[in-house]
Amino acid sequence: MPATLIDGKATAARMTAEIADDAAAFQHATGIVPHLVAVLVGDDPASAVYVRNKQRACEKAGLKSTLHRLPIETTEPQLLDLIEQLNGDSTVHGILVQLPLPTHVREQVILDAVIASKDVDCFHPHNVGLLVQGRPRFLPCTPAGCQRLLAEYKIETAGAHAVVLGRSEIVGKPMAMLLVQRGAVADATVTICHSRTRELASIVRQADILIAAIGKPRFVTADMVKPGAVVIDVGINREGDKLVGDVDFEPVSQIASAITPVPGGVGPMTIATLLRNTLTAAQLSVG
Ligand code: GUN
Repeated sequence: MPATLIDGKATAARMTAEIADDAAAFQHATGIVPHLVAVLVGDDPASAVYVRNKQRACEKAGLKSTLHRLPIETTEPQLLDLIEQLNGDSTVHGILVQLPLPTHVREQVILDAVIASKDVDCFHPHNVGLLVQGRPRFLPCTPAGCQRLLAEYKIETAGAHAVVLGRSEIVGKPMAMLLVQRGAVADATVTICHSRTRELASIVRQADILIAAIGKPRFVTADMVKPGAVVIDVGINREGDKLVGDVDFEPVSQIASAITPVPGGVGPMTIATLLRNTLTAAQLSVG
């Protein structure tokens, strides 16, 4: 039987409507419109599309968004100056520095400069620490989006073997951290696999829940998937003008019990979580 299609687009639209309601109530109570500032350096077309999608989503949820678009030659001190200014601006609640940055700018230096209370990407060491301790302030956008999809589709995670393919700071590590916590849509037994993992296919084949975030188009083939597994595909890879995930979708969807498409799976959920974090940042700013 072909897999249930996990619809991220529809789920994200519902989440955005919830956030819009909560943002309206917050604005009614405080007079404050939550404000996200995105910083985009250079002219990478994919990044420009992502940032535009984030801004459109803000509009849908009734949040304010501002874009600082900087030339590729922008220096590290110039970028740090802008971040310092945004950190100190009480009308700005969330700061998002779109990645990747140009190679002459040290990503870690820039990300660490974003004040933790406005770090809506959940990249700051303070926020990562809170997440690890199971008391998050902000949610890591893509992993929390995946977790929400598991919740919406009532996928049992407690005691399940979740295999996270990829160990990035943005997805792999925080994904594993969410699923291993005590509590709802968690309590999983988690394995992280990566490029140096031995017998990777045989480990992936043990997954009840597979999160593919390795950044290689169609890396997960049908022979690597246990019949009935739930497959969440975080990959966004370009093949010509087509987007493909990290999962070989057609054959894997014949074996899995549920699967996310690319596009229309995890991507919209990442953005919805960013909106939620922006509202959270605004709420925290008043007390
Ligand atoms: N580039 C690709 N994904 C992301 C993300 O989640 N946040 C930021 N800031 N940049 C990205």
